[in-house]
Amino acid sequence: MLLDLSGKKILVTGIANNRSIAWGIAQQLKAAGAELGITYLPDEKGRFESKVKELTAPLNPTLFLPLNVQDQEQVKNVFDEVAIKWEKFDGLVHCLAFAGKEELIGDYSATTAEGFARALEISAYSLAPLCKYAKTLFNPGAGVVTLTYLGADRAIPNYNVMGVAKAALEASVRYLSAELGPDNQVRVNAISAGPIRTLASSAIGGILDMIHNVEEKAPLRRTVTQKEVGNTAAFLLSDLSSGISGQTIYVDAGYCINGM
Ligand SMILES: NC(=O)c1ccc[n+]([C@@H]2O[C@H](COP(=O)([O-])OP(=O)(O)OC[C@H]3O[C@@H](n4cnc5c(N)ncnc54)[C@H](O)[C@@H]3O)[C@@H](O)[C@H]2O)c1
Repeated sequence: MLLDLSGKKILVTGIANNRSIAWGIAQQLKAAGAELGITYLPDEKGRFESKVKELTAPLNPTLFLPLNVQDQEQVKNVFDEVAIKWEKFDGLVHCLAFAGKEELIGDYSATTAEGFARALEISAYSLAPLCKYAKTLFNPGAGVVTLTYLGADRAIPNYNVMGVAKAALEASVRYLSAELGPDNQVRVNAISAGPIRTLASSAIGGILDMIHNVEEKAPLRRTVTQKEVGNTAAFLLSDLSSGISGQTIYVDAGYCINGM
């Protein structure tokens, strides 16, 4: 069986620019034949909207919608629009995270309550309401993919509250997998990507050192690309991975197997 997403409708969140992991995922999903819906984070001046619209136009998305996951009306509206345009759909890509820059450097114990709540709300909690609406619209065998990082399991310098958020996200994947699987064979999985230079990762203190460390020590002696993460997302949203749910799949050039 070849990887084929033709006839599948997949909603992709988290594209900010051409470095976004979600952009790599959207391109690979399209290449495999999927029909795409795209969301963007709205801002007052509409800059993200116009940038993301221009970037994604070649993929011919049939839905292009604003989504700030801190706004529950917007979350509901996205799925109202999905129901109108698609009725049912086959996949959801959750590829978003946020923590204040001040929380991503120095001591974890300095994390503020507000910073903790915001990072956890956007980066981990948001997957639950998206799945709440999506599950009523999913075709049998649909899939959910989210993005995580090794900082969920290990104390990575400066990753701090985002590591705690990713641990919560990976636990959410297991709970959502248990919830969505029984009725409709819907699968929920996470991809743990190696460090990649993006807008979000540039906020992490010492991100370039993290990348160099991976280039020196990973079995493949390099870090990964958005395209490689996209290929794994395409696999996880295809029928080829029909037996996989509740997992964290490492796409990190093998780095996580190292003893130190
Ligand atoms: N870049 C890396 O090294 C790396 C490694 C592993 C995992 N990840 C994860 O990959 C995902 C994508 O990040 P990226 O590195 O591609 O960076 P990115 O900056 O391109 O993407 C982050 C996205 O989150 C969106 N976002 C932030 N707050 C939001 C909100 N309130 N509502 C809706 N969207 C919001 C942004 O608009 C942006 O599109 C994140 O979950 C990140 O933690 C990144």
